[in-house]
Amino acid sequence: MITIALSKGRLADQTLLLLEDAGYDCSAAKEDSRKLILEDAEAGLRFIMAKPADVPTYVEYGAADIGVVGKDTLMEENRQLYEVIDLGFGACRMCVCGPERLRGNLDRIPNKRVASKYPNITRAYFEKTKRESVEIIKLNGSVELAPLVGLAEVIVDIVESGRTLRENGLDVLEVIADISARLVVNRVAMKMKSGEIMPMLEAIRAQLGKDKEERGQQL
Ligand code: PRP
Repeated sequence: MITIALSKGRLADQTLLLLEDAGYDCSAAKEDSRKLILEDAEAGLRFIMAKPADVPTYVEYGAADIGVVGKDTLMEENRQLYEVIDLGFGACRMCVCGPERLRGNLDRIPNKRVASKYPNITRAYFEKTKRESVEIIKLNGSVELAPLVGLAEVIVDIVESGRTLRENGLDVLEVIADISARLVVNRVAMKMKSGEIMPMLEAIRAQLGKDKEERGQQL
């Protein structure tokens, strides 16, 4: 039995589609219910439905063998696990954003206040990469509000379509990283359950290859 931690929401739906295409019966997980553990003994799969930010924790501690989670969450949580496949979906970018007038002038503001749902990524970027000391203000959502009301000069957040920024008069100032969904594996399970996990990883890789080929043919 393989236990898979899914990030509740859109990533979970796309993960299930991919697994089904790769030949795994996921009907148990598609049940419309509020159950948090969905199991199909015959298919040898157990799904646990977790908050995205908690998926790396379940996988690190072995409560789940495998997890699917955004690279943003992995960067923020920095857990001990194997990141094995870039699944490609859930693509967006982690960026420093703010008013357009700050483009190119960011480094000139001393002791900036930076608001973010991602304090660790923010700290790593400004303090380690840019060697700059900033004041980090942790928020839990609607982060774009912060520069608009003077809470912070800039934000660090994910940008997908760019619509939230546009509609609030903000812009991407610097790109920190490309983000997409990643498949992660518990370090012990990778060895102890390799007989089940390896074929699943192979089937997923093969399916991603097929999907890519199909997209290429459509272009
Ligand atoms: C995310 C992110 C941005 C927005 C980016 O927020 O924090 O606000 O999506 O998407 P866009 O570039 O397509 O507009 P989310 O919807 O998760 O809500 P939140 O602000 O409450 O975190």
